[in-house]
Amino acid sequence: MMNKDFEAELALRTDIINRAIEELLPSEEGPQSTILRACGYSVRNGGKRMRPLFMQSVYRLLGGSEEEKLWPFMAGLEMMHSSSLVHDDLPCMDNDRLRRGKPSTWAQFGVDMGTLAGDGLMIYAFETMLKSGFPDDIKLRAMQVLAEKSGIFGMVGGQTVDVELTGNIPDPDTLRFIYEKKTGALIEAAFRMGAIAAGADAETERAFEEAGLAVGMAFQIRDDILDVTSTSEELGKTAHADDRNAKMTWVSFYGLDQSEKDVVRYTDQALGLISDYEEGWFLEELLRRLIDRKY
Ligand code: IPE
Ligand code: IPE
Ligand code: MG
Ligand code: MG
Ligand code: MG
Repeated sequence: MMNKDFEAELALRTDIINRAIEELLPSEEGPQSTILRACGYSVRNGGKRMRPLFMQSVYRLLGGSEEEKLWPFMAGLEMMHSSSLVHDDLPCMDNDRLRRGKPSTWAQFGVDMGTLAGDGLMIYAFETMLKSGFPDDIKLRAMQVLAEKSGIFGMVGGQTVDVELTGNIPDPDTLRFIYEKKTGALIEAAFRMGAIAAGADAETERAFEEAGLAVGMAFQIRDDILDVTSTSEELGKTAHADDRNAKMTWVSFYGLDQSEKDVVRYTDQALGLISDYEEGWFLEELLRRLIDRKY
């Protein structure tokens, strides 16, 4: 597949996702309009939309049709992801003022509204998913996955250990736990929700979940590499934030060379699990490109 085709396809798919998000965000009016504006600001603010892209790609390659039914799942997952970033940036967490090239939510709206916007988005993600036209059993299973992967046994659990162990000497098992949970879990959710929505059998669902976890590991290790090697301008978020916060990262533990190898290794693992699909070219190319993404 030629580069140009991939770029055009990526733009097309991202555009659909942005339309879905726009349609499903609540309108910014009423007595609580401040939090609605803070939520809208946080989600609209130009992310790469990787998690909905993964979900949509899995859905399509497994033969999913009537894609509008997937819109609330894609938008809900992106709301959840955005909520994790809103809270991650708070002064009590990573204390970051820059996100997606703009002031982070708390820097723009204050710590009180930043906290509430994160809470609000996290819960609105589920309200949004309920609007899907999929049958109730599919909605229930997909919402169960999102709840588990974003909550105490998923992203929130990973963030807990990440924050608690700041400044400590890393050990491999703890590092892996943090990465699998804080970032891997929501990407697992993306893959698995796409498979559930497409009506995949249990074995296929499991294979995609496993691929999602490997993608998540690669994604967070690449994020750590970029924190060390890139600039705030290019990243749209503060570079060298991990060093400033004395974070326990893959790069500080294993070094840059090994970390780069691990990004390739985890990506290859994911590619191996999902290689047999005729419609898989886009996801495969996307995963390959994420190996050396620049932001
Ligand atoms: C950033 O995620 C936080 C991590 C889990 C590494 P993304 O790199 O997907 O951020 P956006 O959504 O594109 O801004
Ligand atoms: C964030 O990890 C993971 C989340 C669950 C938000 P980071 O703290 O490294 O993410 P960035 O670099 O601030 O985006
Ligand atoms: Mg963090
Ligand atoms: Mg951070
Ligand atoms: Mg980071």
